[in-house]
Amino acid sequence: MFYPYQITSEAAYEKAYAQSIEDPENFWNDIAQHFHWKKKWNKVLEWNFTEPSIKWFLGAQLNITENCLDRHIAERGHEPAIIWEPNDPEEHHRILTYKELLFKVEQFCHVLQNNGVKKGDRVCLYMGMVPELAIAVLACARIGAIHSVIFGGFSAQSIADRLVDAQAEFIITCDGAFRGNKEIALKSIIDDALIQCRFVKKVIVLTRTRTPVSMIKGRDVWWEDEIKKVETQGNPPFPAVTMEAEDPLFILYTSGSTGKPKGVVHTCAGYMVWTTYTFVNVFQYNPGDIHFCTADIGWITGHSYILYGPLSAGATTLMFEGIPIWPDAGRFWQIVEKYRANILYTAPTAIRSLMSFGNGPLQDKDLHSLKTLGTVGEPINEEAWHWYNEHVGQKKCPIVDTWWQTETGGILISNLAGVTPAKPSYATKPLPGVQPVLVNEKGESIEGNNVSGNLCIRFPWPGMLRTTYGDHERCRTNYFAAYPNLYFTGDGCLRDENGNYRITGRVDDVLNVSGHRIGTAEVENAINMHAGVVESAVVGYPHDIKGQGIYAFVIYTSSHGDENLSRQDIAQTVSRVIGALAKPDKIQFVKGLPKTRSGKIMRRILRKIAEGETQNLGDTTTLLDPAVVEDIVAGRL
Ligand code: PRX
Repeated sequence: MFYPYQITSEAAYEKAYAQSIEDPENFWNDIAQHFHWKKKWNKVLEWNFTEPSIKWFLGAQLNITENCLDRHIAERGHEPAIIWEPNDPEEHHRILTYKELLFKVEQFCHVLQNNGVKKGDRVCLYMGMVPELAIAVLACARIGAIHSVIFGGFSAQSIADRLVDAQAEFIITCDGAFRGNKEIALKSIIDDALIQCRFVKKVIVLTRTRTPVSMIKGRDVWWEDEIKKVETQGNPPFPAVTMEAEDPLFILYTSGSTGKPKGVVHTCAGYMVWTTYTFVNVFQYNPGDIHFCTADIGWITGHSYILYGPLSAGATTLMFEGIPIWPDAGRFWQIVEKYRANILYTAPTAIRSLMSFGNGPLQDKDLHSLKTLGTVGEPINEEAWHWYNEHVGQKKCPIVDTWWQTETGGILISNLAGVTPAKPSYATKPLPGVQPVLVNEKGESIEGNNVSGNLCIRFPWPGMLRTTYGDHERCRTNYFAAYPNLYFTGDGCLRDENGNYRITGRVDDVLNVSGHRIGTAEVENAINMHAGVVESAVVGYPHDIKGQGIYAFVIYTSSHGDENLSRQDIAQTVSRVIGALAKPDKIQFVKGLPKTRSGKIMRRILRKIAEGETQNLGDTTTLLDPAVVEDIVAGRL
């Protein structure tokens, strides 16, 4: 055993869990001893869920990058921290040892400083999955700037909304990004976003694709030129800036059921302890193992389980620039074989997509290095679970089904690989420190087993969100107001006869499309921007590969009459406003929408129709005009 807090038996799990509930402060006090602090805490926890106000390790000072980099130098400075596999398998891969990574992070800290970035500033990162993204994220953390990474699939408008909300004055981007056979012109998208964001002072541009870019004098600088300046200064070290435990580390925007995405804020100390503890225990990481998480750093999974969790544990983390099906559907397996990866952590949507190609792409690959498989982001259906188990894990690798959210910072419910039992399509048991409660509509806790309800958490864990950026009230109403003294997850859940949890999906108006969280209201707002659209309603429906597809019912005043062209126009509008990931899969033109007399759209009915139900649509007598339902059913796609 290498990590003092590693749980290696079921009995040890039970014991740790019990301790974490009986005496949380002592439990976390012991675990936190195994991190590097500039100054230790004088109190472990102070909280209430009414404001809410959550503070862990009060009075402590630290810099998360000292845990992720500096403290590993003596023992494993020459071991790989990041292995980077490019999009094109013909291009050379890169390996950064801990020593090299620290060097590059310090170098880039100087670049940030030379360009005016200081502690507390918001820095937006809009880059592809290149090692420099990891370097830039860590450099922000080291200098104390708050990073806000935006996934490369978001549109200029989405970027602008996030920049305005965070008042981010600094941007780090690339000329372009490679994804499969596509080249995405990132800098040009940033330029479009910045038309609305005159407050942005500097844009640092990394060369990746050599896509032509226009550089604005005084505002835009090249990454490479800035690095040269630091080199001429002799590459001085950059001491990590002292951060208070509860200073913000990053903002990550995520969709809710209403309005624009909200900026979830995570803070330094709690997030560090939580991501490291869960990384080691869920995946049962052992020194020397190669951890391959296929997520993008634009999402929380990439933050917590490509970067912070693994690096803080001194692990080797594999970062992949491309997509699972290019140049062919054997890409993941080829990468596992090439680096002898030991852990593979991916999304059910990727598994289902790869499964649809059959077993051919797996046949000539040597996957015997794999020890642990993981899934995240959406419920995994049993068929996909068994395929993953039999054909990828060859029935020798435990599968961890990890349930968590952007807001939770790290995994909350999961089996521990090979230590606690798995159950297909169940996330199983809560991690130490996590106290799940199922509640009914009235907010009453549902006790006992073999029950289902809305999933809440009744006690804080170190990695939980602290606020939503610039709008604490929004944080309160979204997560802490539905049920008094509980954090509400937005998920439905059941608990089986043995106390295992199975997440059944969102109970609010949030869709989960290919593991991406999208608010129905956001998609509707985007559709409604199209000049021909009068009104729209968006719901999810079951989709074989994506998990959920997007079904839009649209009232449209057609000008040119060609329905297919109109559909394309609307989809294009959504792409422009949000990004291609939010494009509806189906658009049905309707004359009216089912509304109550008070004007509320009855989504329940639309959801049933989208799911293929035509008969049992429930009570329609309260509708203003029940006839619209028949029309919609008749026109179903
Ligand atoms: O509905 C749950 C689903 O994904 C939501 C969180 O999405 P996001 O914040 O984008 O984070 C995704 C990566 C952590 C949850 O509310 N979800 C996540 N993991 C699982 C899941 N649903 C079922 N099983 C899971 N393992």
